[in-house]
Amino acid sequence: MFVYEKMNEDNVSGMALLEKENFTDGWSLESLKEEINNPDALYMCVRDDENGRIIASAGMIISFETADIMNVSVDKEYRRRNIARNLLLKLFEEGRKKGVTEFTLEVRQGNDAARKLYEKLGFSYAGTRPGFYSNPKEDAAIYWLKSN
Ligand SMILES: CC(C)(COP(=O)(O)OP(=O)(O)OC[C@H]1O[C@@H](n2cnc3c(N)ncnc32)[C@H](O)[C@@H]1OP(=O)(O)O)[C@@H](O)C(=O)NCCC(=O)NCCS
Repeated sequence: MFVYEKMNEDNVSGMALLEKENFTDGWSLESLKEEINNPDALYMCVRDDENGRIIASAGMIISFETADIMNVSVDKEYRRRNIARNLLLKLFEEGRKKGVTEFTLEVRQGNDAARKLYEKLGFSYAGTRPGFYSNPKEDAAIYWLKSN
């Protein structure tokens, strides 16, 4: 069974591990820990309770009615099982409870898997931010999801 948890002192190191495995410039354990007590941040993860592993992670920073989604990743062994999709739906639910009506995110232009995921969730492509990413350098595709 998969369990959804808000980021806390117990699961944050598993989340940092996912960052390291999935991104060339992923967040460090220290940076993630700082978000635990940030009132404008909401980070969540998924635990496989068969083995205790943290297998997915995602977060958002909230500014009034807008939330910026970031750090979305799923352990390679668990992909294509709707885990990212369901985790993002949980995040949206939590965001809406806090008054969020629109979600935005950036994704590497060439990250087809993630772009398909966001489009399936209803996000609309809104333009490109040239050279946004480094290591390697790449443009960002910007997406928005507006709801009421
Ligand atoms: C992108 C990522 C988070 C998707 O996680 P996931 O749990 O495998 O995604 P889901 O199973 O929830 O996928 C939901 C839908 O997204 C789309 N999708 C996801 N991965 C896809 C892929 N590799 N190719 C094509 N479509 C894909 C599909 O429409 C899928 O639905 P379907 O399986 O019924 O066809 C995962 O591949 C990952 O961690 N990648 C590395 C980190 C990363 O790039 N993060 C995004 C940063 S912006």
